[in-house]
Amino acid sequence: MKAAVLHQIGQPLVLETSHESEIPHGEVQIRLKAAALNRRDFWITQGLYPKIKLPAILGSDGAGVVTALGAGVDPSWLNQEVMLYPGLHWGDDPRVQSPNFQVLGMPRPGTLATHTCVPVSCLYPKPKAWTFQEAAALPLAGVTAWRGLFTQGHLIPGQTLWITGIGGGVALLAMQWALAAGARVWVTSGSHSKLQQAISMGAQGGVIYGQEAWACDLSDQSGPPDLILDGSGGKDHDPMLEALKPGGRLVQYGATTGSPRSLNLFKLFWKQITLQGSTMGSREEFESMMQFACLHQIRPVIDSTWSLEDCQAAINHLANGHQFGKVMVQCA
Ligand SMILES: NC(=O)c1ccc[n+]([C@@H]2O[C@H](COP(=O)([O-])OP(=O)(O)OC[C@H]3O[C@@H](n4cnc5c(N)ncnc54)[C@H](OP(=O)(O)O)[C@@H]3O)[C@@H](O)[C@H]2O)c1
Repeated sequence: MKAAVLHQIGQPLVLETSHESEIPHGEVQIRLKAAALNRRDFWITQGLYPKIKLPAILGSDGAGVVTALGAGVDPSWLNQEVMLYPGLHWGDDPRVQSPNFQVLGMPRPGTLATHTCVPVSCLYPKPKAWTFQEAAALPLAGVTAWRGLFTQGHLIPGQTLWITGIGGGVALLAMQWALAAGARVWVTSGSHSKLQQAISMGAQGGVIYGQEAWACDLSDQSGPPDLILDGSGGKDHDPMLEALKPGGRLVQYGATTGSPRSLNLFKLFWKQITLQGSTMGSREEFESMMQFACLHQIRPVIDSTWSLEDCQAAINHLANGHQFGKVMVQCA
């Protein structure tokens, strides 16, 4: 097999060939066709992720064909086209993952490779009408967006939603879920052309983030939002609390620009705001998301596709924030 391997923090991934290892009990081997990048992959290459173990094969998202079975696996999986639920050991509590929770792609080998082994619990049949690329683009970002909006954000039809940084993988899928669910969506971005792309997909409007009074400008367009889904944090956090409707909710699934310097507790308690963290999602949420995606015929937006040899360039592309949608790697 070939894999893009990270040996050292801050160093480029290296494409290496190795022998395929024995398939563990309860796992299958997959010939990967497509993989997708997430911000997590970039954070790991920079040493900005907890408990990094090197060398590592990154990549949490993938789709391909089951080519071999470990002991104890139902033989009907052989030769099936599958996509991967990227979580392991979520546990029994729907409110929060267990301490043993892991994401595919460090510490266990990920999908930036020609082959990988995963437990059967990660397998989900690829919808027939979907390409391998579409199936690989959806899982991690899609389930994060799903949990953030519906499980944690309690979004219902007709509500006003803000989504920040619409060019991002999670943000764009969140917009697709929310529009299909009947929400009214406004967005922010660092780029005018991305705002226009979002509007052409159904967003009501948007503003450039980071500018003075960006939240007031957006409020003028949308009115106070019921829910804000944010993955960026930083200095734009406080204006979001300011903008929310009394009784509104701010769901935080990431902190691309870091933690806010301060938190306006007066706004928080007086407006009875819910500040809610959210991380990925359970297998059950993943299945609900897939049913919803198929019912509403939603396909993820692909920004660009790179070869396995060019994985590092693909990660740089993601890090530079040029993307609109998912950055993909062709594995075969
Ligand atoms: N908790 C979880 O389970 C989980 C899961 C997935 C991701 N995350 C985290 O969520 C964040 C986004 O992940 P991703 O994979 O969607 O990343 P991504 O595809 O790399 O997108 C990042 C986006 O951040 C936006 N951005 C940059 N600066 C911003 C700012 N000042 N305000 C608002 N948006 C800003 C950009 O939007 P524009 O392109 O529109 O300018 C960019 O496209 C990352 O921090 C990631 O680690 C967490």
